[in-house]
Amino acid sequence: MKKTFLLFAAFFSLIASAQRFKPAPEWLKTAAFYQIYPQSFKDTDGDGIGDINGIISKLDYLKWLGIDALWLNPCFESSYQDAGYDVTDFYRVAKRYGTNADLKRLFTEAHKRKMRVCLDLVAGHTSIDHLWFKASQSATRNELSDRYIWTNDSTVKPERHVSGKFERNGTYRKNFFDCQPALNYGFGKPDPTQPWQLPVTAEGPQKTRKELMKIMDFWMTMGCDGFRVDMAPSLIKNDPERVETNKLWAEIRHHFQQKFPEGILIAEWGNPARAIKAGFMMDFIIHLGNDGYSSLFFNKEGTYRHDTCYFNVEGNGTPTTFVDYYLEQLKNVGDSGYVCVPTANHDFQRPNCGTRNTEAQLRTVTAFLMTIPGVPLFYYGDEIGMKFIPGLPNKEGSQLTKGNRAGSRTPMQWDSSSKAGFSTASLDKFYLPIDSSAYRPNVESEMANPSSLLHFNRYLLQLRKQYPALGTRGAIRFLYAEANKYPLVYERSANGQRFVIVINPSGKSVQVDCPLSGTIKEFKPVLVDKVSLILVNNKLQIKADAVTYGIFKVIE
Ligand code: NOJ
Repeated sequence: MKKTFLLFAAFFSLIASAQRFKPAPEWLKTAAFYQIYPQSFKDTDGDGIGDINGIISKLDYLKWLGIDALWLNPCFESSYQDAGYDVTDFYRVAKRYGTNADLKRLFTEAHKRKMRVCLDLVAGHTSIDHLWFKASQSATRNELSDRYIWTNDSTVKPERHVSGKFERNGTYRKNFFDCQPALNYGFGKPDPTQPWQLPVTAEGPQKTRKELMKIMDFWMTMGCDGFRVDMAPSLIKNDPERVETNKLWAEIRHHFQQKFPEGILIAEWGNPARAIKAGFMMDFIIHLGNDGYSSLFFNKEGTYRHDTCYFNVEGNGTPTTFVDYYLEQLKNVGDSGYVCVPTANHDFQRPNCGTRNTEAQLRTVTAFLMTIPGVPLFYYGDEIGMKFIPGLPNKEGSQLTKGNRAGSRTPMQWDSSSKAGFSTASLDKFYLPIDSSAYRPNVESEMANPSSLLHFNRYLLQLRKQYPALGTRGAIRFLYAEANKYPLVYERSANGQRFVIVINPSGKSVQVDCPLSGTIKEFKPVLVDKVSLILVNNKLQIKADAVTYGIFKVIE
């Protein structure tokens, strides 16, 4: 009896949570994303740093590639102690990138091409140089005194608190680096013995929340299409069950969708099921919060290093950590939102990293990432196989204790000239040094070569559009995903259409059998490199040469 009741309760709470929000806009279902690190994309004013006009000048290229939506890393006024994630004015485009009018023009030009532009919303903290912080540290009580989280005694320094020369008597709570004081959205469970820990309902935290919505309205009204929200789960402190965090994002989503029904909200959470429950429409499966992504891609070089990973020629990695987490996430998210497994981002290494450095290897990576469910995302430069550059100096806070992020933030390589078509500035003025390899990849040459990696990646995006079974919502079933074994084999399906995909990142040729039922006439090769499939007595017999992939359409 008790068990039945619990089952009913669970069922109704599932229905209730699915109905809490209006659905995400339709366009997200078929969109391909591209992330732009504005510093390094394209410079048009000759200062060695990319700018908004540079992005506008490359929209046609991105359209050609098959991109529908962009996410720009923060482009607002900043102190650049953390590459723009330390904002000093949320309402103003940083001079080095251009003006608000330029950004508005980017929105308009993108829309003309039926593309969307999402901005990066650093919701949880500001720079220590923000005027809000200067007012907040004042001894005289003012409107912004509670904009940040302060203890009431400068000798009290709880974990993640920073002391300094402040007029007021207190230390402040940071979010990431010391220079990034946490905005005050309140505490889920304030400690009654620490009266400086305000509840979320207090006036200060409520004003911070209103200000955040104002910032979002400001850019959305100008033509922006949505936000990627930095450190989305971290706004409310001491909220172990995320009750208040969920309420906060739910309030924001309702407000946002009522005003901007076509707008989207993307979390940086690292747990799509949780993020989507809170009110986001999409979240990333990346290196945060679990080891799935890292166990696929992080090898011995890069920002974060692993001894082994699945996508390496050594062939000693295991796919199951990822597969288990990913399937659990897909199941929990269902139709209420989207997962995204990106090629890389500005915080960790690219696919081209360490010993994973040949075109064939990079093809196995994107053949995989572009044929699994979820929203596809290319990090700028990955479409041509740009390399993670080790050994760079710390640039604008790129260096973390674990490793340097600068290797993934180097200038985009547009052509084969000495400055790679990135900028006319002298090389010493470049934001970061350009890849110095003799044969560094570039867009121009790859565009001219129909068998290049760029064309391959473009074709993968086209296949997703052509066949819903390969797209964002199609189903996936892993047919062969075994610990320490290769290849990886899975089936995709939608509306009665089926595909079988084989990915062998290892440097060994492999043969496996796996069960597959049905009356199958043929496995029609769609995009295949040295992989063969036959079906004998309901057993799929697979042969895959070293470092190969195969996408086959099942003809029944
Ligand atoms: C996550 C961002 O992706 C990263 O680049 C940044 O340093 C931290 N959040 C702090 O904002």
